[in-house]
Amino acid sequence: MTKWSPSSWRTKPAMHIPQDYPDPAALAAVEERLCQAAPLVFAGEARALKSELAEAAKGRAFVLQGGDCAESFKEFSADGVRDMFRVLMQMAVVLTFAGGRPVVKLGRIAGQFAKPRSSPVETRDGVTLPSYRGDNINAMEFTPEGRMPDPERLMRAYNQSASTLNLLRAFATGGYAHLGNVHQWTLGFVKRSPAGARYRHIADKISETLEFMDACGITAESAPQLAGTSFYTSHEALLLGYEQAMTRVDSTSGDWYDTSAHLLWIGDRTRQVDGAHVEFCRGIKNPIGIKCGPTMQPDELLQLLDALNPQNEPGRIVLINRFGAGKVEQHLPALVRAVEGDGRVVVWSCDPMHGNTKKTGNGFKTRPVSAILAEVSEFMEVLRSENAWPGGVHFEMTGRDVTECIGGANEITEDDLSSRYHTHCDPRLNGEQALELAFLLAEQIKAQRDRVAAAE
Ligand code: PEP
Ligand code: CO
Repeated sequence: MTKWSPSSWRTKPAMHIPQDYPDPAALAAVEERLCQAAPLVFAGEARALKSELAEAAKGRAFVLQGGDCAESFKEFSADGVRDMFRVLMQMAVVLTFAGGRPVVKLGRIAGQFAKPRSSPVETRDGVTLPSYRGDNINAMEFTPEGRMPDPERLMRAYNQSASTLNLLRAFATGGYAHLGNVHQWTLGFVKRSPAGARYRHIADKISETLEFMDACGITAESAPQLAGTSFYTSHEALLLGYEQAMTRVDSTSGDWYDTSAHLLWIGDRTRQVDGAHVEFCRGIKNPIGIKCGPTMQPDELLQLLDALNPQNEPGRIVLINRFGAGKVEQHLPALVRAVEGDGRVVVWSCDPMHGNTKKTGNGFKTRPVSAILAEVSEFMEVLRSENAWPGGVHFEMTGRDVTECIGGANEITEDDLSSRYHTHCDPRLNGEQALELAFLLAEQIKAQRDRVAAAE
């Protein structure tokens, strides 16, 4: 293999990276400014995440990775970040309490802007313009100016990511995530739902337990884990110019880390073994996710693991499977057999979103909650029969009361979609639907855990 450097990806074929910046010198100047900008995350934090992921790879933890499909400039607000954080905390509580495993909390947030698109252009009423590629590249507005890539957007995305991280760090460690607040994380619209009632039941039990522990002298002062949580960030490593600019040598270890997020993942469309995205990711020490869609072949996956994790380090790789409901049985067993049979240590995670997208008659992109839950169940079933640990899930959600995915306890129908459809890209679960997913997962993790315990 040739020598790696933060820019060695530039010699490889790079898909889904815009080539149409009108002024390449202006792009280079922004990238230079980003090279001088403060890191968003620190190498020590990425190493802490890697150790937590190693636990999930060994069957002792579960990874909850969720957030927006695409963050946007317009939708950004402190309340929005807080609400997302709240739903993830609620899901984590359900999974920890009912599922009985520690939960690794990983947001698709603070950098999740750039999107691969199925077509580089979009045509409306006979007018063809470049596709929208994410707020850090161009604008959603269907005008020639809007769709022109603008390098200043990278700077704005960096600044928004810094603000978002600042909020997340405050929520995670500044008192909001104190387990004593477990009742306060419920969003108004979720309170009235069946999942909200189930959650309240768990929260009551946790409150009682905390009172008991308090009486025994175990408080947040003596057990700081009660007072806060670790929370990590992730996004797709798509726009490699930005990722390169954020990559620094860690002074403690001498290794390269991409300081734009704790974990970066490689998308299903950019995972070519000889391509630019794999080349970039192989040299950074952050944990790496790999999306595995229906076209992923077992030998291809082993080659990717050779390139990205030659030392087979636990916690380095999360395999994020996204086949679609009804297709898991067809694709996943061969991958699990190849990987586990070769002694590779990975986290098996299920993305039940990206294989279940469809267009409705009225032109909305949606996902049926029933298909999302079905894919998760199929994933759990395959790993159970292959004797491997289902280590996590990856999903798109928001704390807002949106109507983007159909179904769920509230029975959102195709006709309801237009009422609160806000996503900048793919349809997301709302807080209530996300909580339903957490309850389903908890039941299945518990069953899996009990099965492992019985076998021991
Ligand atoms: C995504 O996670 O938003 C995405 C584009 O997924 P995939 O690469 O799996 O299609
Ligand atoms: Co998406």
